[in-house]
Amino acid sequence: MTIHHVGRAKRASDSLSINPMFARPGETSIPRDRLPDGEMLPETAYQIVHDEAMLDGNARLNLATFVGTWMEPQAAQLYSETFDKNMIDKDEYPQTAEIEERCVRILADLWHAPGDTIGTSAIGSSEACMLGGLAFKRSWQLRRRAEGKSTEKPNLIMSSGVQVVWEKFCNYWDVEPRYVPVTLENPGLTAESMLPFVDENTIGVVVIMGVTYTGLYEPVAEIAAALDDLQARTGLDVPIHVDGASGGMIAPFLQPDLLWDFRLERVHSINTSGHKYGLVYPGLGWVVWRKTEYMPEELIFHVSYLGGDMPTLALNFSRPGAQVLLQYYNFLRLGREGYRRVQQASQDVAVYLATEIAKFTAFSLLTDGTDIPVFAWRLNVGYTANWDLADLSERLRHHGWQVPSYPMPADIEDVTVMRIVVRNGFSMDLASLFIQDLQRSVDYLDRLTGPMPKESSAPATSFHH
Ligand SMILES: Cc1ncc(COP(=O)(O)O)c(C=O)c1O
Repeated sequence: MTIHHVGRAKRASDSLSINPMFARPGETSIPRDRLPDGEMLPETAYQIVHDEAMLDGNARLNLATFVGTWMEPQAAQLYSETFDKNMIDKDEYPQTAEIEERCVRILADLWHAPGDTIGTSAIGSSEACMLGGLAFKRSWQLRRRAEGKSTEKPNLIMSSGVQVVWEKFCNYWDVEPRYVPVTLENPGLTAESMLPFVDENTIGVVVIMGVTYTGLYEPVAEIAAALDDLQARTGLDVPIHVDGASGGMIAPFLQPDLLWDFRLERVHSINTSGHKYGLVYPGLGWVVWRKTEYMPEELIFHVSYLGGDMPTLALNFSRPGAQVLLQYYNFLRLGREGYRRVQQASQDVAVYLATEIAKFTAFSLLTDGTDIPVFAWRLNVGYTANWDLADLSERLRHHGWQVPSYPMPADIEDVTVMRIVVRNGFSMDLASLFIQDLQRSVDYLDRLTGPMPKESSAPATSFHH
C-alpha cells in the first residue's frame, strides 16, 4: 500500500466536475476528498473513475514494469467469472484451494524439488519473500535455542542490489541486513564477496535470479559450493533462499541446464512472481520449500476446511483467488513448450534491443538481456555535458515510451542507468519502432547547444520494481 499523506493538496478546485452528458439533472460536481452526501447513477460513477484511470500511462508502452499487462481473452473471461473468490475461504472455494495446491506441485516439480514439499501462493513476491525470510529466522532460532545459544542478533546476507522487499523484511522482523557491496564489474553477489559476511548468527543468504536493476543472475551454484565448503571447514550450515521473482519463471525454460534451483541441496526455498514472467495479471506470488521441514510447523496456521483442517501460511488473510486460477490457466494453456516459446520471444526482443543500443556511441551496456529478458545501459562518461539519461527518459515520454533512468544501488550509486524490461506482448515490431524513437530522441538531445535546463534539483531515487 502506498502511504498517502493526507493534506490539502493545491488544486484548482476541491470538487470533481461532472460532464452534463451523463449526469443527472442538476448534478454538476462532487467533492474530491470527502464521501459525497448522496448517491449517484452507476453510469456516472463509472465514467468518472474510467476517465481518471485513463490518465495512467499506456501499459503496453511501459518498458519499466515487470508485471503482466496482457492476458488472452479467455483468461480475461475466466478472471471476470472468478474475481469474487477469496483465497482464504477454503470452505467455500475448495476447488480453488485444490488448484492452488496443484500449482505449488507444478512449481516444485519445475524447480526440481526432490520429494515432499510445501508452498503457497501469495499476493506477490514480496509476501513470498517475507515468508521465506521468516522460515529462515524461525528455523535458526529453534536450532540456536536447542543448542542453548543466543537468538539475539540474527542477520541475513544479500547484495546491496536486492529489491526493497528484503530491506523491509529485515526492518519489519528485526533482522540485521548484511549488504554485500557490489561493483560495476560485478553488480551482484559472488561467492567470494559473500563469504566474509557469514557468521553463526546468519539465518541465510538471499541469491537473486534476475537482479531488479540489471536483469543479472547471481551465481547460485558457486555461492552454494562456497557455503558447502564453509560448512565442511567450520560446521556453519547456512541455507540459501533464491529470489526468483523474475528468473524463477525464465530459467526453467530458457536456461534449463543452469543449476540454481532445488537440484542444489543448499537451496531451501524459492519465490517467484506469478504476475511477472508467470504471465498473470497483478496480485500473485509463489513460494516453495525444498522439504516440508524447512518451513517450521509453528508458522503454519490451521483454518477449517469442509469440517477438516487446512494449513495456511500467509501474511494476509483475505486475498483474491482469481489470480491463482489464471496461473493454472496459463500452466494448462502453455505447458513447458508454450512457456519456452513465449519467454524465448521476449528474450529475442531483449537481445535485439540491447544489440541495437550497443551501437549508439553514446551508450555502453551493463547487461544484454541473456539472463532474464531485461537489460540496462549507461551513458558513456564524457559523452556530453548537455544531457543525461533523465533527459532521455523525458524525451522518450514524448513518444509515449516509459523507460526509467535510475541510480545503481549503494556502492555504485554514482552510476545512472536505463533499463528495459521486455514482457510478453512487446513485439519485434514495437521494438524496432522504439529504436527509431530512441534515435530521434538522442539526435534531438545531441543538437542542444547548452545543458538541458532542469525542472527541479530533486535527487533521483532508486527504481525498485
Ligand atoms: C528480485 C525481486 N524480488 C522481489 C520483488 C517484489 O516482487 P512483487 O512486486 O511481486 O512483490 C521484485 C519486484 O520487482 C524483484 O525484482
